[in-house]
Amino acid sequence: MTTPKKKTKASLGTTNPLVPPIYQSSVYTIPDLDALDAIMNDGEPGYIYARDAHPNARRLAQMLAKESASAWGVVTGSGMAAISAIVLATVSQGQRILAGNRLYGRTVQLFSQELPRFGVNTDYVDANDLDAVEKALKKSPRLLFVETVSNPLLRVVDVKALADLAHNHGALLVVDNTFATPVLTKPTKLGADFVMESLTKMIAGHSDVTLGFVGGMDDDMLPAVNAASSIWGLASNPFDCWLAERGLATMDLRTRAACANAGTLADWLAEQSGVAGVWYPGREDHPDHALAKRVLKGGFGHMVCFELDGGRDAVNRFLHAAPGIPFSPSLGHFATTLSHPATTSHRYVSPAERKRQGITDGLIRLSVGIESLEAIQEEMAKGLE
Ligand SMILES: Cc1ncc(COP(=O)(O)O)c(C=O)c1O
Repeated sequence: MTTPKKKTKASLGTTNPLVPPIYQSSVYTIPDLDALDAIMNDGEPGYIYARDAHPNARRLAQMLAKESASAWGVVTGSGMAAISAIVLATVSQGQRILAGNRLYGRTVQLFSQELPRFGVNTDYVDANDLDAVEKALKKSPRLLFVETVSNPLLRVVDVKALADLAHNHGALLVVDNTFATPVLTKPTKLGADFVMESLTKMIAGHSDVTLGFVGGMDDDMLPAVNAASSIWGLASNPFDCWLAERGLATMDLRTRAACANAGTLADWLAEQSGVAGVWYPGREDHPDHALAKRVLKGGFGHMVCFELDGGRDAVNRFLHAAPGIPFSPSLGHFATTLSHPATTSHRYVSPAERKRQGITDGLIRLSVGIESLEAIQEEMAKGLE
């Protein structure tokens, strides 16, 4: 071992890493009190405490803001944290939320179980029925909350029309764009005030990250979202942000490849025996196909739902016969996975509500990946047999 003649600080000289470092530090050192004041009061560059801000989150937020055509962005510790941050930043006790009536189960739990404890109540409306939305807006809610492509049955909403209606009634439009991703559509371009994404899904894309994103258009809202994230403890961690940035680099390619597979697979599934129904916005038999052509400019998505004849037993038999399509209750993985909404994402939704939405015991939700279509079909065929 050679001993360096002179003690040197680790230095990169004139070089820089091509890949950004992970700033895995929960706190920063500050030269003096004046420097602290300059960061905290005057917006000088610098970091103090990672729950307030850290370089990996800030980089990722800026990239996602650009990607989603938002004026600003904040990265949060999960998709649910992103929804919570928006609500906490905008809604006060006594105000109401109007929400679409086909949403991710945990979002419904937040609105129906948690927020009433703080004096915030939510009404639900069919977001595809614009007359019903207009009527419901007469209660003057603070927020109108919808999913661009709904979980699980992939109903598509008219973001522009909803934004106009919300604004005419003094409400802010919040769009959960998780199933669509910014590749398919950018809700803030269509008039939404806030967009949120679960980065856990297609954007990070490798099932090794739990993160969320809030994009907003009004600069005055940014401090409130940042404050909600820090004070309520909704912040992200550096390593997840670093992984998500890597996923983001291939999001466009992965999403387009997965959409192509999903479209062909949906048509193929519709012809298989034992399949009672197929839901895919790119198919003419989907109730929102015409709208999807207008709203989902970048493709019809990587999610496909199908119903097996034979309910829960048939699903169990499918899972055993096709282990190459893992039952893994999330979405957006680079390889195909499946979920069972009735027992996972919508487990805590009442049976009557599941029935209303068409979430039956035989319904399987596929998150189609980018492996070869033949490989997916081969494994699916084993399950369907
Ligand atoms: C449509 C939708 N929104 C939000 C979320 C919540 O995201 P996260 O799991 O990152 O909290 C999910 C999770 O499945 C989802 O499907």
